[in-house]
Amino acid sequence: MPLLFKKIKDLRNYLKSIRCDKKEIGFVPTMGYLHEGHRALIRMARNQNDVVVVSIFVNPTQFGEGEDYDRYPRDLERDLAICEEEGVDVVFAPEVSEIYPRGYRTKVCVGELGKRLEGEFRPGHFDGVATVVVKLFNIVQPHRAYFGEKDYQQLKIIEQVVEDLNIPVEIVPVPIVREKDGLACSSRNVYLSPEERESALSLYKSFLLAEKMIKAGERDAERIKEAIKTFIQKHPHVKGIDYVEITDENLNPKKTVEKGDRILLAVRVGNTRLIDNWKVEI
Ligand code: PAJ
Repeated sequence: MPLLFKKIKDLRNYLKSIRCDKKEIGFVPTMGYLHEGHRALIRMARNQNDVVVVSIFVNPTQFGEGEDYDRYPRDLERDLAICEEEGVDVVFAPEVSEIYPRGYRTKVCVGELGKRLEGEFRPGHFDGVATVVVKLFNIVQPHRAYFGEKDYQQLKIIEQVVEDLNIPVEIVPVPIVREKDGLACSSRNVYLSPEERESALSLYKSFLLAEKMIKAGERDAERIKEAIKTFIQKHPHVKGIDYVEITDENLNPKKTVEKGDRILLAVRVGNTRLIDNWKVEI
C-alpha cells in the first residue's frame, strides 16, 4: 500500500528524508476517481523517478458557482487500490481546511491565456487551478510533474506559470488516453447515461471527420470548425457546444490549418460538460 498523508507537515517531513537520500520525486496532481488517463501519468512518473507522489484533492477554488463541485465523484479507497497497483509510493489526500485554512486570499492570476476557450465559460477556473498547483508544488517540491494533454489548456497554463514564477520543476506532458471506442477517459464520464455516452462519442468522431477533411486537402479552419459543429449537433442529448477552436500548439487561433495544430472543443451532453482535443497530423 502507498503511504497515505493527510497533513502537509507529515508529508513534508517524509519527503525531506527522501530528498536527503538524493532520490528524485515525480508528482501527479489529481482530483481522484482515478481512471486509465491518470494511470498513464502515474506510469510515466514511475518510469522516470525514484519516488512517485500522487495528490488527490477536489479543489473547490477551480469550480464555479453552479458547477459540479458537490457531486464530483470521490472514492479514496478505490483510488488507493489503483495507486497500489501502479506502484505509487505516497498519496497526499488533504482536507479542504488543510489546503485553505484561511480561505482563498492570495491567488495566482494566469492572465490572458486563462480567459480564452475554457476560461470564457469558466471564469476564474484557471486561477483556481494555478493557485492549487503552485501550492502543491511548494508542498511536494517535485523534480518532475505530470499533466495530461486531455486538459491541453491547463497544461499550457501550468507551463506558463512555472516559467513566469521560476518554479524549479520539469513539466512532463502525457498524451490523451481514450476508451476503446474513442471517448477520452474522464472522471466525469460516470455522469453519462448509456444513451448520452453514445452521443458523447461524437466528439471523438468529429476529430476523425476533421482529419479526413484535412487529408483530402481542406485547410480552412472556419470550414473545418463548421463541419465539426454540424456533425456534433446532429446527435441527441447534445445540449450545446461551448466552443470549437483550432489553434497552434501554443493556443493561438489559426485560419489555415497545419500539421501540429490543435482542435479543441467543449460540448454539453445532458448535464455533463465534456472537453476534448486533437493534434492535427497531416
Ligand atoms: P484531474 O481532472 O483529476 O486530472 C488529473 C490529471 O490527469 C490532469 O493532468 C489531466 O490532464 C490528466 N488526465 C485526465 N484525463 C486524462 C486522459 N484521458 N488522458 C490523459 N491524461 C488525463 O486536472 C485536474 O485533475 C486538476 O485541475 C488538477 C491539475 C489536479 C488541479 O486541481
